[in-house]
Amino acid sequence: MNQQIVIAVVGSGYVGLVSAACFAEMGHRVICVDNDEEKVRLLNEGGVPIHEEYLPEILSRHRGGSIEFTTELHRATSQAQVIFIAVGTPQSDTGDADLSYVDAVASEIARSIDSYKVIVEKSTVPVYTNEWITRILERNGTQKDTFDVVSNPEFLREGTGVTDFLHPNRIVIGVESERAARVMRQIYGPLTSGAYYNLPHAVPGSRSANNPPPLLKMSTKAAELTKHATNAFLAMKISFINAVANICDAAGVNVEEVAEGVGMDERIGPKFLRAGIGYGGSCFPKDVAAFRWVAEQLGQQFDLLAEVEKINSQQKKLFFRKIRSALWTLRGKNIAVLGLAFKGGTDDIRESPAIDIVNMLLKEGCCVTLYDPAAMERTKTVIPPGPQVRYASDMYEMAQDAHAVLILSDWQEFAAIDLDRLRNALRHPIVIDGRNLFDPELMLEKGFTYFSVGRPYPTTSVKALKTL
Ligand code: UDX
Repeated sequence: MNQQIVIAVVGSGYVGLVSAACFAEMGHRVICVDNDEEKVRLLNEGGVPIHEEYLPEILSRHRGGSIEFTTELHRATSQAQVIFIAVGTPQSDTGDADLSYVDAVASEIARSIDSYKVIVEKSTVPVYTNEWITRILERNGTQKDTFDVVSNPEFLREGTGVTDFLHPNRIVIGVESERAARVMRQIYGPLTSGAYYNLPHAVPGSRSANNPPPLLKMSTKAAELTKHATNAFLAMKISFINAVANICDAAGVNVEEVAEGVGMDERIGPKFLRAGIGYGGSCFPKDVAAFRWVAEQLGQQFDLLAEVEKINSQQKKLFFRKIRSALWTLRGKNIAVLGLAFKGGTDDIRESPAIDIVNMLLKEGCCVTLYDPAAMERTKTVIPPGPQVRYASDMYEMAQDAHAVLILSDWQEFAAIDLDRLRNALRHPIVIDGRNLFDPELMLEKGFTYFSVGRPYPTTSVKALKTL
């Protein structure tokens, strides 16, 4: 197939591990580095630390062959031609991205450069980070002509990361030299040439040999900004539809009808117009704040983003008011909670609106029974089991004797729940759905009192919702 390249991926979080596995899948040799010894041991022993579709299959296909896991950053960067930095860039107290991990890795790389290397930022970073990495390498004595710094932002979503990586809408590379551009084209050659999609074991998705992804070449700063602007725009789309949903609630209109009507305009598009309890996760909240900070540093007020954040945080409070209005008093009530992850299909609870809502319930004196197909272990570390908190082993046990069920993440299996069994398990058949998973008419037919986001109550009690 295409030419094999030796790649080091530094950081084995969602982006790092998925990228490493997919590069191996594309035919490259990959050394994945992490300073967490426990994680590296788990990965070497065949474990998979995150919940991602297709990741276990790909890792077992290449583990012990074209992919290895190590804590030895120095060895990995010496052996690799290309080093991807995919370490965390958490939000600092002031809203900007904390780049200390990127700084530490760049300094370590500087000490191990003995031949030409391409250093690629994969983590989401503010514009100008590539220039800082260049400066760090030079300060540590690295010769200018022995490296290039490239920005190659990653647009994968958690849960569907492997498919998103191998079947991307576009591949963005920000480069300042033709030499680095050539290397990046070689790395992504199996995708851009379409060759990967002809392999018998290729992960299925929207791309094919006849419809390979485009590679967009731009300046490094443009690539850095592309990533922040993309995430900020998507977050804005969600806040926009949530604000519209609140108007729909007040007007007795179904927001899904409006979203369909709006989304059919090709200039807008139908995706990311699902109203709910707001966005969470490791990217949108952090990146919206970081982009606002970047704008401020460059002398620009990006107040639109402050509004996006405000709507997002209000969305949880409005949902909480719905719970209160459905149940009246909350102290001592048993609430069943379906979904803890920040969205369905992942075990990640970072910035999860579900966790915030559970904490609000606990503060009000509720007892909660929690269930999530993948995120319960992680949730136990922040909401430990106790007199007010129980974890259930399945959806029906969760519902047993509860005063109401809340739906807080959009797992597909929740939508397939046996509604009769659910109703029979509950003390009161009340469902308050923060993800609009069910058809309100069907819920009424099944005997539930059903509240959702931006969709009228399917009886004459639209008026009741208007007072929320
Ligand atoms: C996001 C971006 O989509 C991805 O391109 C980037 O690389 C990382 O950040 P991710 O955080 O995995 O990916 O989740 P995503 O599927 O985008 O959802 C983010 C949040 O928005 C979730 O809480 C989700 O429930 C919410 N969401 C999404 C909505 O509330 N409504 C929608 O219509 C879409």
